[in-house]
Amino acid sequence: MVRFMNVNKSYGKLNVIEQLNFDVAEGEMVSIIGPSGSGKTTVLRTLMTLETINDGVIYVEGKPLTHMAKGGALVPADERYLRRMRTSIGMCFQSFNLFPHMTALQNCMEGPVQVLGLSKKEARERSEELLHMVGMIDKRDQHPSRLSGGQQQRVAIARALAMRPKVMLFDEVTSALDPEVIGEVTNVIRKLVTEHNLTMLMVTHQMGFARDISDRVCFFFGGKIEEQGTPSELFGNPQRERTKQFLSAVKEAI
Ligand SMILES: Nc1ncnc2c1ncn2[C@@H]1O[C@H](COP(=O)(O)OP(=O)(O)O)[C@@H](O)[C@H]1O
Ligand SMILES: [Mg+2]
Repeated sequence: MVRFMNVNKSYGKLNVIEQLNFDVAEGEMVSIIGPSGSGKTTVLRTLMTLETINDGVIYVEGKPLTHMAKGGALVPADERYLRRMRTSIGMCFQSFNLFPHMTALQNCMEGPVQVLGLSKKEARERSEELLHMVGMIDKRDQHPSRLSGGQQQRVAIARALAMRPKVMLFDEVTSALDPEVIGEVTNVIRKLVTEHNLTMLMVTHQMGFARDISDRVCFFFGGKIEEQGTPSELFGNPQRERTKQFLSAVKEAI
C-alpha cells in the first residue's frame, strides 16, 4: 500500500531521513516509535505531501506519490497531481485543528463536499455514520470550543475518515490529552484496527498501546529504521543496543 524507496529528506545540511526503505502492506497497522527528533513526524509529513523529499520515490498503491509519469520518465509531481493523490491519505495530529467556526458535523462534511464533490446529503450521511462510530453523534451540532480535547480528537478522526483515505496516519494523537480521556481516543483507533481493514501508520509514545494493537513496530533512530519487528519481537526481545536503551529509558519514565 505504501512504499518508501531510498527516500532522503534534509533541511539545509541536516539529513532528517536517510535512505529510507519502508513498506506498509494493505490493512497493516504499523507503529513508529523512537526518540524525539528521529524523523518520525517527517516520515508522516512526506507521506501526506506536506514536505517535499530530496531523493527517492514514495509509492501509494503502486502509484508514485511524489512523482508522475511523463514521457516514459518519472518527474516531480505537479500541484494538481499531488492534490489528487493526497486524498488517499488521511492524517491526525497531536493538535486537532478543527475548523473553529464549524460544528462537529460541518467539520466532517467540509472535505467531502469541497474536495470530493459529494452532495450535502451524501456528505451528511457519511459524516453522521462516522461521528456515530467515534461516539460523537450526540455532539454533532457543537462547535469545537464546547468539546473536550478527547472529544475534539475523536471528531478530527471522523473528519479524516470522511475522506475515505486508503491510509490513515496518526501522529501522537494522545499527547496533548488529559490522561483520563486518552482511552476514549485509543479505543477509537483500536476499533479501526479490529473492525475496519484500514492501513495505518501511528507515531506514538504509548508503548503499551503500540504493543497491543500493532502488526509491526518500527524503532526510528536518526532518520532510519534502526530495528523493526512484531510487537513481541521488538518489545520482548530487542536486538539492537539503541532499541534496548530507548525502551529502558521510556520504561523508567512511566
Ligand atoms: N521545518 C523544519 N525545518 C528544519 N528542521 C526541521 C523541520 N522540521 C523538522 N526538523 C528537524 O528534523 C528532525 C526530525 O524532526 P521530526 O520528524 O519532527 O522528529 P520526531 O517526530 O521524531 O520528533 C529534527 O531534528 C527537527 O528539528
Ligand atoms: Mg514528531
